[in-house]
Amino acid sequence: MRGLLGLVGSLLLAIPLAVAAPPNVYKTKQRIDAPRGWVKHSTPPPDQPISLRIALPQQNFHALEKHLFEVSDPDHNRYGQHLSKEEVEALVAPHKDSLDAVDEWLSGFGFEEKDLIRSPAKDWITITVPVSTAEKLLDTTYHVWKHTSGDMLVRTTSYSLPSNLHTHIELVQPTTMFGRVKPEKSTIFGLDEVTDVLHTASEALPLALGSGIIVDPSCNSTITVSCLLQLYNAVGYVPSNDPRNSIGITGYLEQFANIQDLQTFYAEQRPDALNSTFTFHSVAGGINSQNLSEAGAEANLDVQFAFGISHPIPATFYSTAGRPSQFTPDTRTPTNTNEPYTDWLDFILKQENPPLTISTSYGDDEQTVPEDFAKRICAGLAQLGARGVSVIFSSGDYGVGDGNSDPATQECFTNDGRNITRFIPTFPASCPFVTSVGGTVNIQEVAVSRFFSGGGFSDYFKRPVYQEQAVCKYLKSLPKGTYKGLFNAEGRGFPDVAAQSDRYRIWYRGRPVHIGGTSASSPAFAGLVALLNDARFKAKKSSLGFLNPLLYSRGVSGFNDITVGNNHGCGTTGFNASQGWDPVTGLGTPNFGKLKGIVT
Ligand SMILES: *[C@@H]1O[C@H](CO)[C@@H](O)[C@H](O)[C@H]1NC(C)=O
Ligand SMILES: *[C@@H]1O[C@H](CO)[C@@H](O)[C@H](O)[C@H]1NC(C)=O
Ligand SMILES: *[C@@H]1O[C@H](CO)[C@@H](O)[C@H](O)[C@H]1NC(C)=O
Ligand SMILES: *[C@@H]1O[C@H](CO)[C@@H](O)[C@H](O)[C@H]1NC(C)=O
Ligand SMILES: *[C@@H]1O[C@H](CO)[C@@H](O)[C@H](O)[C@H]1NC(C)=O
Repeated sequence: MRGLLGLVGSLLLAIPLAVAAPPNVYKTKQRIDAPRGWVKHSTPPPDQPISLRIALPQQNFHALEKHLFEVSDPDHNRYGQHLSKEEVEALVAPHKDSLDAVDEWLSGFGFEEKDLIRSPAKDWITITVPVSTAEKLLDTTYHVWKHTSGDMLVRTTSYSLPSNLHTHIELVQPTTMFGRVKPEKSTIFGLDEVTDVLHTASEALPLALGSGIIVDPSCNSTITVSCLLQLYNAVGYVPSNDPRNSIGITGYLEQFANIQDLQTFYAEQRPDALNSTFTFHSVAGGINSQNLSEAGAEANLDVQFAFGISHPIPATFYSTAGRPSQFTPDTRTPTNTNEPYTDWLDFILKQENPPLTISTSYGDDEQTVPEDFAKRICAGLAQLGARGVSVIFSSGDYGVGDGNSDPATQECFTNDGRNITRFIPTFPASCPFVTSVGGTVNIQEVAVSRFFSGGGFSDYFKRPVYQEQAVCKYLKSLPKGTYKGLFNAEGRGFPDVAAQSDRYRIWYRGRPVHIGGTSASSPAFAGLVALLNDARFKAKKSSLGFLNPLLYSRGVSGFNDITVGNNHGCGTTGFNASQGWDPVTGLGTPNFGKLKGIVT
């Protein structure tokens, strides 16, 4: 075992070093309280493999952020001049001193260059070691932790690093990261059985919504691709299969999208797309059995609606391996698979041409992801934005709450040691470099109420400049003292926008079902963004990239403001949808025709 040899080596080495200079004593790098719901279960076998990810500080991230805001601001002369992969990597590369210090530490444990997997910018190092070695590297003790849901993780509540490395290593995970990806599909409501035949165009008169928008009355009870095109004013727009354009969907938790279901869906809702398909990428061993009875509901929903709207724009689905509940101490499954966002980011940031619009319908309580780790994941998403990619996340289905119980009586507690009552924001939706999509229902549209549109304010991320005006206007409208202490009024407000989120008719394991959640709004919105990119290319312009600076400025008039509904949680009625931006439905739902006019 490498690690064991390494330890012997470091012990021998420690003697002369101790004479030359004071030894680098280990100092605590991070200590947390275990999040609610997790208890210590057992001791992991010492030879249990664990893949440690070591983050080195990204030297010029502030410069990357400045570039990102300039190239994404429609009023800046650099708008649309996205950075290349190499330019982005140069900006996030660590300082040579950090690389050297970390290399020296690892070689002291016997690791050689061939044992290390480095990200292209060298800002991450991954090493797979037995738990016993990880414990020595980090002067910690790992345990198997069990969640009330049955999920298990190998984690610790504190870890240390030699004091000289504290400025050269930002974080090491998996250590204190208890977050798990969760599909935003509302598990409370799940899938509803529906009739085999899609009923549209009844005798009822079409609904006229003004500005020439006419919607089939059936859309008030069943959402189809046509409904979304009608409601969001995209009927008749014909996108091309321009190879420069692209759209991607990410899948986690062993979900894959079934092609047979997709064809049945196309036959029913998008006949001209029949026989077309998407490119599949397996990330870190993500599965794609195509066995109809193993198709993923989330994956099918995302692929059917995003690609149903964006056809024939080139489409890709990513399946990233790993689910926490899969951990069993005897199978020796490497535990790296428990942090799929970074696995996916590694994969996508290596691509020369990542999809220009990417939708993800997964997330978890912000507080279950340690702040430093959340910031690094968010910084990875910023890199995609700087390269011209629109990164889109669903905002969550639990209103201002944590989704663990009935929103009316639910108690929401912080796990920062204070155990105080507080609203629970969703991550990555709370990352300021993504566009977060909340949920509506019905025609006329109101904030969804069968479950609740995730929204609120981040406890980790400050309010970004692009939403300063919109969010301050909302905050001023709140009666003084509203929810005092329950949310961070200085935090990044989310969602940014919204879209229909309930009663989507999809095909799942050979049957039609209705499905709901902000899981549905995100791919629907992403499909329309891909169409906007098509319009941009036809106008000889660049892709849209990071959307928010555009949406909150010139884009505002391209949205239907949603002013009815609220997002319950934590025993409160949550926030209210209201005129202008609100933390329930953001700026509102898209009007493709108007947005197209704005961006071309
Ligand atoms: C749509 O359905 C909702 C809820 O059932 C109802 O309140 C609303 O009136 C319906 N809209 C139309 C235009 O019929
Ligand atoms: C799809 O493929 C089938 C079988 O090859 C063919 O009969 C059908 O015309 C194709 N449909 C479209 C829309 O291309
Ligand atoms: C498809 O999946 C089901 C459920 O997991 C399983 O019972 C069946 O054997 C699988 N079929 C094939 C051909 O692998
Ligand atoms: C937090 O406080 C609540 C209510 O006072 C209590 O039920 C719960 O056990 C506490 N949790 C922790 C982790 O202390
Ligand atoms: C939401 O609206 C209701 C009804 O007007 C009002 O009583 C409540 O105070 C509002 N809540 C917030 C957070 O604005």
